[in-house]
Amino acid sequence: MKWIVSNHKMNLTKEQIETYVNQISSLKSMNKLVFCPSNIYFSYFQNQENFQLGSQNVADRNMGALTGEVAVEQLKSLNVKYVIIGHSERRNILNETEEMIHQKLKLTLENGMIPILCIGEKEEEISEREIILKEEIDSAFSEQSNLDQVIIAYEPIWAIGTGRIPTPEEITSITKWIKDYVKEKYQVICPVLYGGSVSENNIEELNTVLNIDGYLIGGTSLDVEKLKVIIEKTEEEV
Ligand code: 13P
Repeated sequence: MKWIVSNHKMNLTKEQIETYVNQISSLKSMNKLVFCPSNIYFSYFQNQENFQLGSQNVADRNMGALTGEVAVEQLKSLNVKYVIIGHSERRNILNETEEMIHQKLKLTLENGMIPILCIGEKEEEISEREIILKEEIDSAFSEQSNLDQVIIAYEPIWAIGTGRIPTPEEITSITKWIKDYVKEKYQVICPVLYGGSVSENNIEELNTVLNIDGYLIGGTSLDVEKLKVIIEKTEEEV
């Protein structure tokens, strides 16, 4: 059983989301399906039993005066179970800092939700990948409790939205490295997802990576027919 997490990013209009929710309402899968729409659409996704809800972000502090942000307490009250934290678009475009990511992880864990911590290197950092991943893990993980609840998403930044993916061998070895590192340093076993240009065309190849626990899917998740192919092909592997 794998996680198939759809990250809609800043996409879909009200009409499109209505159609989308209609289309996914009949999805059945042995995998764990998680949808992370824009926060403004959470109400369209309520009361569905075949999937869980995730947020693309959370504020780095508790509910209160912070215009435009969404608090963990608010997400929890809407039955949001998963929270994507530290996505590279937020790190790089919105200058989200390691300190903010650490706080977001802390609040999410304290509130019993499941964080999906995104880590990954830029193209020019490939040769020092492990150093980058280590820094991202350590700054987020240090002095936290309940780390066994964390899901890590390995998303090489150069693979996001580009149609390029690492080879299955590379993903196998990086995933193993991540799992070994957190086990040794933090004594936890964290599932690791792969994200970056996952599509209906490369899912069979990706499914040959035995030690990944699922996928974080951006662009392709906006098309339910393509998402269905990913779900079905991944089901065959279960
Ligand atoms: P794409 O699937 O569009 O490459 O995006 C990946 C991603 O960033 C998911 O969080």
